[in-house]
Amino acid sequence: MQITAKTLNRRNRVKSEGNEDVKLLNCKLYTVMYKPFEIKENLFYVGVNDRTKHLFENLWPLPKGVSYNSYIINDEKIALIDTVDICYADVFFNKIRSVLGDKQIDYLIVNHMEPDHSGSVELLKTRYPQIKIVGNSRTAEMLKGYYGITDNVVVIEDKEELNLGKNNLQFYLTPMVHWPETMMTYVKESKTLFSADAFGTFGTLDGGVTDIQLNPERYWDEMIRYYSNIVGKFGSPVQAALKKLSGMGIETICSTHGPVWTQPDTLGKVVSLYDRLSRYESENGLVIAYGSMYGNTEQLAEIIAAAAAENGARNIIMHNVSKSHESEVLRDIFKYRGLIIGSPTYNNKLYPAVESLLSALQNRNVKNKFFSFFSGHTWADGAKRELKAFAEGMEFETICESVEMKQSLNRNVMENAYALGKAMAERLHSGDAVIPHKTTCH
Ligand code: FEO
Repeated sequence: MQITAKTLNRRNRVKSEGNEDVKLLNCKLYTVMYKPFEIKENLFYVGVNDRTKHLFENLWPLPKGVSYNSYIINDEKIALIDTVDICYADVFFNKIRSVLGDKQIDYLIVNHMEPDHSGSVELLKTRYPQIKIVGNSRTAEMLKGYYGITDNVVVIEDKEELNLGKNNLQFYLTPMVHWPETMMTYVKESKTLFSADAFGTFGTLDGGVTDIQLNPERYWDEMIRYYSNIVGKFGSPVQAALKKLSGMGIETICSTHGPVWTQPDTLGKVVSLYDRLSRYESENGLVIAYGSMYGNTEQLAEIIAAAAAENGARNIIMHNVSKSHESEVLRDIFKYRGLIIGSPTYNNKLYPAVESLLSALQNRNVKNKFFSFFSGHTWADGAKRELKAFAEGMEFETICESVEMKQSLNRNVMENAYALGKAMAERLHSGDAVIPHKTTCH
C-alpha cells in the first residue's frame, strides 16, 4: 500500500475520532481500494470510476457513471495502455504505484487521444520523463497539438509489433472508431485486445472489473446508449474494424469504458451487439417520438400506439421529446426497427426538440427503418413540410399513411392515426427487409 498525503490525512482524521474499529475499517477500505487488480498474469487494471460527472462530453447523462480504463502489462518492459480523465489523475497515479512501486514505465500506448483517455498524458510524462509514447502519425500530431509533446514519441504503422519480453503488442489502426487516430492493440500471446472506445459502455465498475465479477445485465442498455450516442455516426468504420479483427481469436477485450470482457458468452454478445448496431440492424419494435405543446399531438401519438398494439406490434416505446433525454430516444431508435415521429408546428417549422432529434438522426446516418410521421398545426403546416423532407432524405422505407392534424383531433384525423398505427404494425409483422427510399401504402 502506498502512503500518500491522502492516506495520512484520513488516518489522522480517524485517529482523532478515537474509535479503533472505525480506524481499522477505514484503513482496510483504503488498502482494498489500491490493491492491484490482476486481470490475468501480469496484466493489471489501473482505470478509475467517475460517479461525479453529470454529462459525458458535457452532453450525455451518466445515471450509472462511467469508467475510464487503463491497463499495465508488467513484462520485462512495462507498458501502460491509455490514461484517464485528468480529474482522476491522483487516483490513477496511486493505482499505478500500487502495481509498479518505484519502477519506471517504458511505454505508454495511446490507442485514443480523446481527453477522457489522454487527459493525464502530460502529467504522466512529468512523473515518468523517460517514458516513450507509442501511437500512429495522427496520434503524434494530436500529442503535439493538445499537449506540446514531441519528444520520445514512437510512431508505428498498421500491424507493426513491439516486443515487451513475453508479450508482443501488435497495433491495428482503426480510424474513426471514434477519432481518426484511434487504434487497437492486440497481445497475441494472451489473445487480449485493447480496443479503445470499441465495445465500450457507460456504467462504472462497482466492486470488480471483469464480467465474472460484475453482472453483465447491468450494462446492455447502457452499451446501446453509449454506442448510439458516441460511436453511432461511425457505422462503416466500425464494420471495417470488425472485419480487420475477424479471425484473431480474441479471448479478452479490454475497452476504455466498462467491464473487461472475458467470458465466451458475454464476449460474443458484445461483439455481436457492436456488429449489429454498426450495420443499423434492429429488433422488431416501434419508437414513437413526439413533441406536444398542449397535448393534442400527444393524443395523436396515443392513438397511433394503441392501433399498432391492437394490430400485433410489441415493444412499443413512446418518448415525449420534451421530457425524455435525446440520448434515450437515440438508444431506442437504434434498438427498434419501426419509427414514427410527430411534431406540432412551431414558428412555421418543427418543434425545436423534434428538430434536434432529426438532426441527431441525420448526423448518425441512421438507416434501415420503417418510418412515418404525424404533424399538427393551427394555420400553416411547417412541421409536415419538414418531416416529409426528412423522410425523403433518409434511407428509410416510408409508410405513406402519415397524419396531418389541424387545430384539434376530429374523427377523420383519428381514423387516419389508427390507419397509420395499423399499417406500421403490419409492416413490422411482415418480416420483410426495409427497402430504402421506398414508400409503402396499405
Ligand atoms: Fe472515450 Fe472517444 O473517448
